[in-house]
Amino acid sequence: MGEKNEAYLKKVYIQTWGCQMNVADSERMLGLLGRLNYRPTELAQDADFILLNTCHIREKARHKVVSRLGELRPLKEENPHLIIAVSGCVAQAESQALAKEVPYIDIIFGPDQIEDLPNLLEKVIEKSEVDKKVSESYSTNKAAPMVITKFDAKEEGYSIPIDVVPPYYDENKNEVTRYVNIIKGCNNFCTFCVVPYTRGREKSRPEKEILDEVNFLVQKGVKEIILLGQNVNSYGLDLIGAPDIHSSNGKLPFADLLYTVSSVPEVERIRFTTSNPHDFTPALAKAFADLPKVTNSFHLAVQSGSDHMLDRMNRQYTRAEYFERVKWIRDVRPEIAFSTDIIVGFPGETEQDFEDTLSLVQEMQYAFIFAFKYSIRKGTPATRFKDQVPEDIKDRRLQTLLEFQRKETERQNRAEIGKIREVLVLYKNRKEENSWYGRSYEGRLVKVQSPRNLIGKLIPVKIIGANLTALEGHLV
Ligand code: SAH
Ligand code: SF4
Ligand code: F3S
Repeated sequence: MGEKNEAYLKKVYIQTWGCQMNVADSERMLGLLGRLNYRPTELAQDADFILLNTCHIREKARHKVVSRLGELRPLKEENPHLIIAVSGCVAQAESQALAKEVPYIDIIFGPDQIEDLPNLLEKVIEKSEVDKKVSESYSTNKAAPMVITKFDAKEEGYSIPIDVVPPYYDENKNEVTRYVNIIKGCNNFCTFCVVPYTRGREKSRPEKEILDEVNFLVQKGVKEIILLGQNVNSYGLDLIGAPDIHSSNGKLPFADLLYTVSSVPEVERIRFTTSNPHDFTPALAKAFADLPKVTNSFHLAVQSGSDHMLDRMNRQYTRAEYFERVKWIRDVRPEIAFSTDIIVGFPGETEQDFEDTLSLVQEMQYAFIFAFKYSIRKGTPATRFKDQVPEDIKDRRLQTLLEFQRKETERQNRAEIGKIREVLVLYKNRKEENSWYGRSYEGRLVKVQSPRNLIGKLIPVKIIGANLTALEGHLV
């Protein structure tokens, strides 16, 4: 029987760039495609369907996608039935340029059309059947992509309801931790950021749908849920009709969601990413105090330590307000490991502004940071700011910051030696026998030796060694 089914299976090759949102979107698309009998393949040359899920956060993002498509072109020429699609943030932001440069893409669709992928595929397959009758020879020069990038197409009768889509889960992968998308889009319009333009306005998933997904995943053996959104703190404000956090009468639906997910017995740990400090209320600190399943790590992007820069970035909080929110959390979780995102060389950033960032990073004692040189993103307000910072200055500031943080991370990791930490084991160490990797409650990577398969286990570990990237521990 298995063999008979095998004959009907098609293969999809997905390449994913960018943030966790894109990773979760790719998993969701695999879930949708599974219902059309597509199974994932690691090899583009084996695929019936190639999907590039793209990111627009770096410079020259479109060029990278176009050059990857160039590499794939011979496959399309050999096999005219091969379908090629481009999704994600480049598809959304630069669909017209893409369609023009690479006419042999079959479908270009944005992050808001993910649920519509099965329909789009069907349409393309139908169309190619018609084309085949008209002309026997296929040319990659003559084709024109189908471009669908309208936001909220669902309201116009495109999409199938979200809740009937089972999440994708690969039984062979033994996944212990999974992202669950809770909100898409962003209303914040930070002046450097492309996300509100590529992902549209905030739209929260109903709580029931999130719980169904969490329950499905824990039944499969997942132990840790990472709630995902560009700005998880504003989860549910659209559902309760509050235009923003300050009009929500003290309610924080995101905190309520943390309580709900915590009440699922099989969920062992909960993390979330990312949070804008602006949409942060004491209700979140209370959730940290009440809910031990919420881990002792918090990614809270600050971007800059200078009030002048924060204002020009439209982050809607000051340095003092950032520290105030950090204190709410540290008061209830003294050992919490904070991490952050920083942009250096934002237009107008002076040496003093950069010093303010350095001093903030020193004071915060982050576990780790992601630091970026500001780079122009088409269509965003900061593109028009006149006082762009020269590249060599950005380079120097980035190096200074990273060098400081490298020492700080090493210092903190060494300070772990001798402590006993609870580790959730996530995967096997591919380079060593009887060796496993997991994360401590504070989110630090820990290597543990054991002849037993530890995947999915929550175990106490004594830390005996440390370097920049990981700790090493013994079972106790
Ligand atoms: N929603 C998150 C950020 C998502 S984008 C938040 O508000 O915290 C991830 C990170 O990419 C940002 O935090 C920022 O540090 C970086 N980034 C975004 N646009 C950038 C740009 N134009 N130049 C440099 N870094 C950028
Ligand atoms: Fe971008 Fe700001 Fe929204 Fe984060 S909060 S996604 S940086 S606009
Ligand atoms: Fe990139 Fe889009 Fe994520 S631009 S970082 S894939 S939201």
